[in-house]
Amino acid sequence: MLRHFLRDDDLSPAEQTEVLDLADELKKDPLGHRALAGPQSVAVIFEKNSTRTRLSFEAGIAQLGGHPITVDGRNMQLGREETIEDTSRVLSRYVAAVVWRTFAQARIEAMASISAVPVINALTDDFHPCQVLADLQTIRERHGTLAGLTMTFLGDGANNMAHSLMLGGVTAGMHVRIAAPKGFDSNASVVADARRRAEQTGGSVTLSDDPGSAAEGANVLVTDTWSSMGQENDGKDRVGPFRPYQIDGALLARADSDAIVLHCLPAHRGWEITDEVIDGPASVVWDEAENRLHAQKALLCWLLAEERRR
Ligand code: CP
Ligand code: NVA
Repeated sequence: MLRHFLRDDDLSPAEQTEVLDLADELKKDPLGHRALAGPQSVAVIFEKNSTRTRLSFEAGIAQLGGHPITVDGRNMQLGREETIEDTSRVLSRYVAAVVWRTFAQARIEAMASISAVPVINALTDDFHPCQVLADLQTIRERHGTLAGLTMTFLGDGANNMAHSLMLGGVTAGMHVRIAAPKGFDSNASVVADARRRAEQTGGSVTLSDDPGSAAEGANVLVTDTWSSMGQENDGKDRVGPFRPYQIDGALLARADSDAIVLHCLPAHRGWEITDEVIDGPASVVWDEAENRLHAQKALLCWLLAEERRR
């Protein structure tokens, strides 16, 4: 079966480990795998802004011997009347894989449903699975393991990072705590899927609106913007209810003494995270950003190898 990576649980626990192991290997030997030699091209399409995802995919595809074709989706015929399905049929004739940052998850599912090549989610409203692969690689580097660790996300429980950390975290056997203000609850069907996956791996999902108790003893604290791309004018107060969820020195002090702090970036300093924390010794955000490169290269190699095995 052609494999896509549209959400974190598209990889089984064993497959996730394979990708993370390969990411570690590629980090040590960046030019050691030439999965896109030829060069084969990869379409990298953005309907929302990006710094890390764009740069890390472009650099990574080049390091794999391939050629990235980066396109602003808003300038494609997709941005006018051409359907996602017709676009997908055409892209499959040109490229070895499609990487897409878009809005609704249904859009990337429609792309994948027709595609003859792997489709990779570079962020949708609901999930950001490439980011969480890099996050897991970073956590494993620092803590030496993933299974059994407690990871607390503080912020908008309904955003792409919360959902992906939940699915990706339990796939790795982690205990994932989501602390979000009332009214910003995680999608119930994602929570149910994560809990089903957790039954296989020994992980768990805990939801709460109490940032202090959610942070208590955690090995990893994670936060993200309170207002994701596309939510700027959604009419909700995205500041007041979130203030108690800011990761500051006091909240960090409630976590385990070896706790690390992640943020996918871009950070809104003074809002979801203080300067003291993001610039402090517990912060691993720059390694986390670097690992986007290694994790995504590993994912591309893995998906293309799966395709060859078909
Ligand atoms: N973390 C992340 O996806 O960053 P960009 O929006 O800059 O790609
Ligand atoms: N939740 C954020 C992540 C940015 C990388 C957003 O969707 O804007």
